[in-house]
Formats: sequence, structure tokens, C-alpha cells
Amino acid sequence: MFRQAEKIVIAHRGASGYVPEHTLAGYAMAYALGADFIEPDVVMTADSELICLHDIHLDTTTDVAERYPDRARADGRWYAADFTWDEVSRLAARERVGPDGQRVFEQRFKAEAQGFGVPRLASLIELVQSLNRQTGRFVGIYPETKAPAFHDAEGLALEAQLLGQLADYGYHGRQARIFIQSFAADNLAKMRFKMGTQLPMIQLIASDDDAMVSAAGLDEIATYADGIGPDKRHVVDSDGALVAAAHARGLLVHPYTFRADQLPAATVSLADELRQFYDGYGVDGVFTDFTDIAVDVLRRLRHAVPMWPAHD
Ligand code: G3P
Ligand code: CA
Repeated sequence: MFRQAEKIVIAHRGASGYVPEHTLAGYAMAYALGADFIEPDVVMTADSELICLHDIHLDTTTDVAERYPDRARADGRWYAADFTWDEVSRLAARERVGPDGQRVFEQRFKAEAQGFGVPRLASLIELVQSLNRQTGRFVGIYPETKAPAFHDAEGLALEAQLLGQLADYGYHGRQARIFIQSFAADNLAKMRFKMGTQLPMIQLIASDDDAMVSAAGLDEIATYADGIGPDKRHVVDSDGALVAAAHARGLLVHPYTFRADQLPAATVSLADELRQFYDGYGVDGVFTDFTDIAVDVLRRLRHAVPMWPAHD
């Protein structure tokens, strides 16, 4: 069983509540705000570079459509798998837009002259490892393999490239400061059993996946993973029973995603929501766009400091 000493804060897509997701600026900010782990989503370029990007498409978070207007596929989307790293490195990263071209989070970063780019996974790792050397902290990384089946179909060896790069940067064994996460069970099982990695792994569970949160589903997950990363809906709907069921099988619980600007109905603040998850439901960590708020909630819980008066 993998042991996690303390409850953790996972910086979801960096400090994405403040600056555009998956940028080195966002990762550095999340580090400075006190994150325990920094989360990159990972996809591959045509020349097999691992990059930090949530979507297999480039058009939701970069200016690719303006820079390369003729490079969309027939479905009207620009795929990272069709671009070399050199091409991707010239793109500007920006706040996420939806299918309608409108910003997904209206109140987030607004400056036009941003200067942000899409990073390579290697750059994130070097950032975190360098800051760890300088500060004496032991911040980890939490890479998610995005769309493994798509990468297979494109002839891109996502898992092999990821495990190889992690090994090159010194991530080995059960105590490495890393979690590999995926929604695809076969992807994690392949890395565990066929590729032989011992690195800690988390099975993500989508909001509409009730099979994985069943007793049989958790039993199966416990054969290859060290924990679950459920949509937080599953924790709420079970009134915390999912956390107990996972813990009984030696599985950690790291639900997603906690956002100050996307609170559930009747929730007063992100701090209140986080306190309920950490202290009420007993989760082991959370994915959040607002690292600073989660860090403060954990500090208050550890030292029995009251929450802000408005929330008591
Ligand atoms: O990896 C946890 C959470 O990030 C999963 O959702 O879509 O933000 O990658 P997504
Ligand atoms: Ca993710």
C-alpha cells in the first residue's frame, strides 16, 4: 500500500484560477502559493515531444487558429499531434475558450499581451526540481496521460515516452514524489503490468462513471493503482462513504475539481467546500485551481485556526 503522510494540495493545471492554465508562469505561481504537487495534463506532438496541454486540440487554449489557419483537420480542430514541438513553441497560450469561442471563466486573466507559451513536460519538471533544490521543499508532479487511445491511433507512444522521460529525471520507485493519473484504466494497468513501473498511480473517475465507484470497481482499481481521483460528485453523493470504501482497500482519494468561481449550489465559499472535503469526508488531497485557498484551509485545520468569521 502506498502511504501518503499528509493531506495534499494539487495545483490543477497550475495556478489556473489566476493565470492561463498549463503555463510555466502558472506552475511557478502554484509552487510559490504552496502546492504539494503540480498537475500537468500531457499530450504529444507529431515529433513525440511531451507537452503540457489539457486537450488533444490546440485551439481552445492557444492562438493556433490565427497562426496556422490552414492546419485544421476536417472536423475544424487543430490537433497537437499534427504539429512539431518547434511549431507549438511559437504559439501563445491564453485563457480557455469554449466551442462558441467565449471564455470559459469570465473573471479570470484578461490581459491581451500575455507572453505565455505551451511548455514541454521537461520544462515543468526542470522548474519544479530546480525550485526544490533552491528552497529545500519537496514538491511533486502529477502528470495525467490524456487520450491514450487517440495517441495509440496516431502512432504516438505516450506511455513509453512519459515513463522514459520520468526515469531520465530521476522518478523511480514507490517513494518518488509523483502520481501518474489517467481516466483510462487500461492505460494505467499497461504501465503497471506490461511496462513495469512502480510509480504511484491514481485512477481518475468521471462524473458519469458509477461502475468504478462500486465495490467491484474499487476492488479492481486496487490491483493496479494507489488511489482514486473521483469527480467530487461521487464523494458528495455517497456522503463520504466512497472515501471510507477506498481507504478500506488502501486507496488514496484525491477528488477534482475545486474552483472558487464554480461553486456548487448553496456553497458559501471554496474554503467551506474544501473544509468539508478534507475534514468532513476525509479525503487525502484535492485538485484545485486555487492553491492558495486550499493551502490556507489545510493550515487552519492542522493548527485548529478558526475559519474566517464570515464562514463560521
Ligand atoms: O486530473 C484531475 C482532473 O484534472 C481531471 O479533469 O479534465 O481537468 O483533466 P481535467
Ligand atoms: Ca487533469
